[in-house]
Amino acid sequence: MSDISPRDKNAPRDIDTPAIVKREANVDIPNSKKLFIKTYGCQMNVYDSERMADVLAPVGYAAVDTPDEADLVVLNTCHIREKAAEKVYSELGRIRKMKEAKAGRGEGDMTVAVAGCVAQAEGEEIMRRAPVVDMVLGPQTYHKLPEMIARVSRAQGEVLETDFDTQEKFDELPTTRDPKGFSAFLTVQEGCDKFCTFCVVPYTRGAEVSRPVEQIVAEARDLAKKGVREITLIGQNVNAYHADAPDGSGKTWGLGALIRHVAKIGGIDRIRFTTSHPRDMDEDLIKTLGDEEKLMPYFHLPIQAGSDKILRAMNRGHSYAEYRDLIGRIREARPDIALSGDFIVGFPGETDLDFEQTLKCVDEIVYGSSFSFKYSVRPGTPGAGLPRQVPEDVKSERLKILQDRLYAQQFAFNQSLVGKTLPVLVEGTGREDGQLFGRSPYLQGTHFMGAENLIGQIVPVQITSAGKNSLIGDLA
Ligand code: SAH
Ligand code: SF4
Ligand code: F3S
Repeated sequence: MSDISPRDKNAPRDIDTPAIVKREANVDIPNSKKLFIKTYGCQMNVYDSERMADVLAPVGYAAVDTPDEADLVVLNTCHIREKAAEKVYSELGRIRKMKEAKAGRGEGDMTVAVAGCVAQAEGEEIMRRAPVVDMVLGPQTYHKLPEMIARVSRAQGEVLETDFDTQEKFDELPTTRDPKGFSAFLTVQEGCDKFCTFCVVPYTRGAEVSRPVEQIVAEARDLAKKGVREITLIGQNVNAYHADAPDGSGKTWGLGALIRHVAKIGGIDRIRFTTSHPRDMDEDLIKTLGDEEKLMPYFHLPIQAGSDKILRAMNRGHSYAEYRDLIGRIREARPDIALSGDFIVGFPGETDLDFEQTLKCVDEIVYGSSFSFKYSVRPGTPGAGLPRQVPEDVKSERLKILQDRLYAQQFAFNQSLVGKTLPVLVEGTGREDGQLFGRSPYLQGTHFMGAENLIGQIVPVQITSAGKNSLIGDLA
């Protein structure tokens, strides 16, 4: 799945702008302890951070907006690119100072935990490099948080938990949630068996595991009951989802069947899913994209590179022509669909000619939005050992050329919506007085003037102007 970008909370966000999970202080719990979670990386980390807060609420933790006075600080980290992982260590330096200051004020101890994909990949190194860290917990261990905290306080020592038992995690986590707004993520599948040669995810998230239908539906119902109108089903390979049909027929359900089932839940008006892999797109899902009205016409399908040679070296398991044909079939099923993609430039062995194939792909497919990165060498992945690594300046040059083209397409797509009326899910107020903020079906942030009682509703907005990243309109 993609990292998240500042543009919106549902679509991939730039790794440099970590999302902070905020919760209202829970006044009902006496002597409540303060929890601060900082989230880096992809949507699954956003989901996991919310689940950590859910698990800690019953044992007296209420979330706060700043780490200074927190009793427990959790950094939920991302290992996808080198820069993302390095950021954790600089943040730990700042946390150490806060911890000392808090103790200096006589306000007691601050427990520091590192969670997420860096924790999984480099747990022992974190303990060695950053003595401030009390706990390291991998992505499959969050249901054990209360017990781990107890162990830390009892033993006054460090705790390292990096077991892989995705099924156990989901069986143990409650299906009740405390949603932050009207749009929520819901993990349906976790882990990856694809082993693209550039990627750490199969090592940090483990093997592909799908959650049972009943568990997902229970969670979705709870979200709907609490006012959530839009659910984004997430997974590292969300369209590899497969589970037993809940009717006992012995059949297996794919993502299409799951989506149609979730669409029956009253109150849920919009469904999205991310991230899909081209290899796992089946006919049923394409048909569902065409037929299911609650499914938003916005689809994220990474290609990474346009050259077949590079796709092979990346172990993506498909050619450019196969991707292009797939997109053709998806557009046939859902003509109003907008596409987004992920791209990597400068994978080892990528020549100018290979890079031109990526540009050709962009010209032919035409994306409504996109996420593009310079290849980052990840120790332990097969890509790291490949000959003909591409120099940094060549990567930067290629990224600039690619992004100019992708952003021009994004701007043109946004411009094409001017004059149209779009249903917007109102998420909150905008920066200006009387202004509201919401999401279009294509996930663009949309600003318009309106009364606050519209927050949480889906309202028609006529688009009057469009920038590269957002839309402005009038309530229609
Ligand atoms: N499961 C998704 C992607 C998960 S990672 C898929 O198969 O497409 C999100 C994105 O980060 C990837 O699509 C890729 O574009 C980028 N990425 C992953 N590893 C990277 C690396 N080593 N260097 C640069 N970008 C990388
Ligand atoms: Fe990484 Fe490839 Fe798996 Fe996506 S499919 S998570 S890019 S290994
Ligand atoms: Fe997500 Fe980063 Fe892990 S993208 S799966 S948090 S490595």
